[in-house]
Amino acid sequence: MSQDAWTEVDRYLTDTLLAPDPALEAALADSEAGGLPAINVAPNQGKLLMLLAQMAGAKRILEIGALGGYSTIWLARALPADGRLITLEYVPHHAEVARRNIARAGFAAQVEVKVGAAIDTLPTLQGPFDFVFIDADKASYPAYFEWSLKLARPGAVIVADNAVRAGKVLDPQGDADAEGVRRMYDLIAAEPRATATAVQTVGSKGWDGFCLIRVKSSLP
Ligand code: SAH
Ligand code: DHB
Ligand code: MG
Repeated sequence: MSQDAWTEVDRYLTDTLLAPDPALEAALADSEAGGLPAINVAPNQGKLLMLLAQMAGAKRILEIGALGGYSTIWLARALPADGRLITLEYVPHHAEVARRNIARAGFAAQVEVKVGAAIDTLPTLQGPFDFVFIDADKASYPAYFEWSLKLARPGAVIVADNAVRAGKVLDPQGDADAEGVRRMYDLIAAEPRATATAVQTVGSKGWDGFCLIRVKSSLP
């Protein structure tokens, strides 16, 4: 198996199961035109996020790492009419592109893009959140997990992207991103208030994976 085959299968799955989506396609086109890196989730991964948030009945969603708002739009689609989403983004230009994309998709009133380092904006947030998507700088994943736990309600779902990093998670060799993911796993494993699994994925975005965490409903 190779990257070409993974990409081809992703295209087949996406073409078969996902309807054409002008707002999401425009978000990607404008992100590219704005010079943003193409490190958004793949369409079939974005839909997985939407489905997970819907299954969790999420009314308040937190995202850490907006980029051009592609995953943000998928997550916002899971919200009921009175639901809200806050997404945190460090780079002002990314936030600007994200706001435009989110508005075009019809979510300007429900989504707030907060600019700044997430480690500075997280303490200003008012919980509780029902669903958190962690997808910013990987070296800070341990801190983002701790903050997510603080801000999430019992029973909430937390998803962390890029949880495998093409296998680098096994042997980080000075890779601060992979080291951050490992330290997050160690925190989760030692955390009585959370339980988690992680799943490897291949696809158009290469070999990676996600970590799925549930905040326990009550202490054991
Ligand atoms: N969730 C997006 C992709 C996010 S890429 C999607 O799937 O569509 C990671 C984003 O995190 C980038 O836009 C980057 O600027 C942002 N980021 C990096 N460091 C950050 C920090 N310290 N605080 C907040 N955002 C950060
Ligand atoms: C990178 C970040 C991501 O969130 C992602 O999904 C892929 C790559 C990166 O920083 O390289
Ligand atoms: Mg990611």
